[in-house]
Amino acid sequence: MQYGYFDDDQREYVVTQPDTPLPWMNYLGTEDHFGMISNTAGGCSFYRDARLRRLTRYRHNGAPFDLGGRYLYLRDDTDGDYWSPSWQPTRGPLDAYECRHGLSYTSISSEHGGVRAEMLYFVPLGETLEVWRLRVRNDRDTRADLSVFSLVEFCLWDALDDSTNFQRNFSVGEVEIVDGVIYHKSEYRERRNHFAYFACSEPLAGFDTQRDVFLGPNRGWDSPLAVERGCSFDSVAHGWAPIGSHHIRLSLAPSETRDVVFILGYSENPTDAKFDPPGTQTINKARVRPVIERWLATEEVERAFGALHDSWEELLSVLRVETPDPDTDRMVNIWNPYQCMATFNLSRSMSFYESGIGRGMGFRDSSQDILGFVGMVPARARQRILDLAATQLPSGGAYHQYQPLTKRGNDAIGSGFNDDPLWLVLAVSAYMKESGDTGVLDELVPYDNSSGSEAPLSEHLHRCIRYTLDRLGPHGLPLIGRADWNDCLNLNCFSESSGESFQTTENREGGVAESLFIAAQFVLASHELAGVARLRGDGDEASSLEAAACKMVVAIEEHGWDGEWFLRAYDSLGGVVGSHSNAEGQIFAEPQGMCVMAGIGVSDGKAAAALASVRDRLATEHGIMLVQPPFSRYHLELGEISTYPPGYKENGGVFCQVNPWIMIAETILGDGEAAFDYYKRTNPSARAPISDVHRCEPYVYAQMIAGRDAASFGEAKNSWLTGSASWHLTAISQWILGVRPELDGLRIDPVLPPTWPGFTARRRWRGATYEIVVHQEQGAKGRVRRLVVDGMSVEGNLVRPAPAGSTVKVEATLESAPPSR
Ligand code: BGC
Ligand code: NOJ
Repeated sequence: MQYGYFDDDQREYVVTQPDTPLPWMNYLGTEDHFGMISNTAGGCSFYRDARLRRLTRYRHNGAPFDLGGRYLYLRDDTDGDYWSPSWQPTRGPLDAYECRHGLSYTSISSEHGGVRAEMLYFVPLGETLEVWRLRVRNDRDTRADLSVFSLVEFCLWDALDDSTNFQRNFSVGEVEIVDGVIYHKSEYRERRNHFAYFACSEPLAGFDTQRDVFLGPNRGWDSPLAVERGCSFDSVAHGWAPIGSHHIRLSLAPSETRDVVFILGYSENPTDAKFDPPGTQTINKARVRPVIERWLATEEVERAFGALHDSWEELLSVLRVETPDPDTDRMVNIWNPYQCMATFNLSRSMSFYESGIGRGMGFRDSSQDILGFVGMVPARARQRILDLAATQLPSGGAYHQYQPLTKRGNDAIGSGFNDDPLWLVLAVSAYMKESGDTGVLDELVPYDNSSGSEAPLSEHLHRCIRYTLDRLGPHGLPLIGRADWNDCLNLNCFSESSGESFQTTENREGGVAESLFIAAQFVLASHELAGVARLRGDGDEASSLEAAACKMVVAIEEHGWDGEWFLRAYDSLGGVVGSHSNAEGQIFAEPQGMCVMAGIGVSDGKAAAALASVRDRLATEHGIMLVQPPFSRYHLELGEISTYPPGYKENGGVFCQVNPWIMIAETILGDGEAAFDYYKRTNPSARAPISDVHRCEPYVYAQMIAGRDAASFGEAKNSWLTGSASWHLTAISQWILGVRPELDGLRIDPVLPPTWPGFTARRRWRGATYEIVVHQEQGAKGRVRRLVVDGMSVEGNLVRPAPAGSTVKVEATLESAPPSR
């Protein structure tokens, strides 16, 4: 069953019924000001940091699932009937409903009793505010006398404190209501110089700012007393729970349409000009007043909405493909890069699954997010790389997370995830391949944000590599530390106390537990950095990196091969993890993918054997599971992985992020059929027809799909903010379609399903445009054997960078390899 459809021309997903299996979310904002919004207008809003600068409340894990939002209530003032045009929170019957999730906007429209209402929500480019445009039309043949009530619930800024520190918070809420604008100014009297505001383009019939007055005693959001009785209370919040609610009255003639604009914004004042008049406690509104005036004008809204559309047109023009497969085109051309923007902006901080209060930006996560995002705005990727590097520690290790507002490493989690630094190397090389910018390596960046410790980025990368080499275990393989990519493989934790964090507790001295994953990742990162060093003419550095990689490959071959696949780890007791000799957890997907991506075992058959084992033991119709057989009981020596019931999350779920590694590995071995077959299994658009099973949004990747051992096999969870986005885009665009930026050119190396006659692509790269046509001979299991660039035959499959502004025509033909003699 489906709950909507894709409108590819508009680049929208259209939800056609409000009661989707889970709230289906979208994001507003692309730069500093963000919002999350569901198909029934649930969600919240924040400035830069979901934890530290939250504007509105959202109740994660509520029932119904989706409360706290950008709500409106319409009321027929002749008979008192009222409803929410976005269905929630009243959930009354609607005669029609449609939600269009578009690129950084959402519009929700519905009809009830002859009144059509459409809400459009977006953040204008460059602004720190949300626009909500309500368009109401009277479809009756009589006049409609309506009331409109708006509603937001303010968060007292720090979302963690807001949801825990009630002895204080029930007393600090403060608002001002001036000229119909509701200002939320809790803590403005003391150390904050920021406030929120909620304004409306129509004159007010009334307002409310105290939640429990608006709702009435013992009532919920579905039946506020103010709405029921048709008149606000003009309440002024002092403590308790400040809200913003405007009440306006509209009298519409038959067929009349009216636009009403609401804006929900964030503003800051200089510390010495906070109050007006000085010496009072009243917000100085000199800066914000013109902003409010400007954005309440409907023409301005129209213009800004157009500009947002144009900016997405530009962002998506980096890569456009036309292939024989519509699900591929839709994801590559629209939704996958769109999701990459969300992960780049928000890392793993705020989603339907992530409350925004626990995790800031992940070092590993944000580094990987760059892979999918870098083509869109290389300059922003560059800045992110420098921010990440500034949280690196002098040892070369890294804080696992940092807060976006402060850009400081998060002490609560600390460091010691031994894979972390290597991801930075991969992010920098991806950035350099995209941009050609070698100067980034000379940027001076501090360690741990301490001034005086600045060193060139190249030195930071050097320390990333050293960090691994300084931490080798008994088999010459890298020590895992707290965990590697698999946060749940906690081999030093040995936790027997409930409540202990698996990620930060180390109950054993490290020094023994080793990770095959980091070993392979090290080989990959060393090769990448050697390429960068060579480009800079530093042959010695390149050779020493290659030598370190070779040594690691030897260690992997000697101690990391299990006979039919690569091992996963050695635990703290010296036992093997991910071996046929284990009763549970015999084979893990990550090392198979990472080893082959690093080129290990490609020439001696190990890679092919490992991928065959993946196919036999891990692949399902819903994707490739992370481990088999899953752990059926708690393993003290393995940690969190064995806490999940079999089939969920790291314990045998289809961890989507790892699937593209296997796809890439298949392309490295030249099997386009297998690679694309895997690609289709996790493609959200291809899974739309099974939305009842998949349950998550059909337009974005989820972190996990429940594996074969789970009761809900095939059910996706943790959608939106996941490394699946970047890696799927990388796998399909760079390895299957094979349009791959490299340091010295654009590699054209498709590895396609044999049934495809070819495809076309337009790639914007370093300022030039490459119009690429790929032909594949029927049934060829081939690679590019003929390449024609601007009419000239070229040896190999590398297209050299063309001058910015130029258009290059590339024609590539895939043929089977000539039979060997
Ligand atoms: C989850 C992981 C996540 C980790 C860190 C674990 O509970 O299973 O997927 O990476 O927490 O937040
Ligand atoms: C989700 C985390 O965000 C990511 O960093 C980690 O690699 C995976 N879980 C696997 O544990």
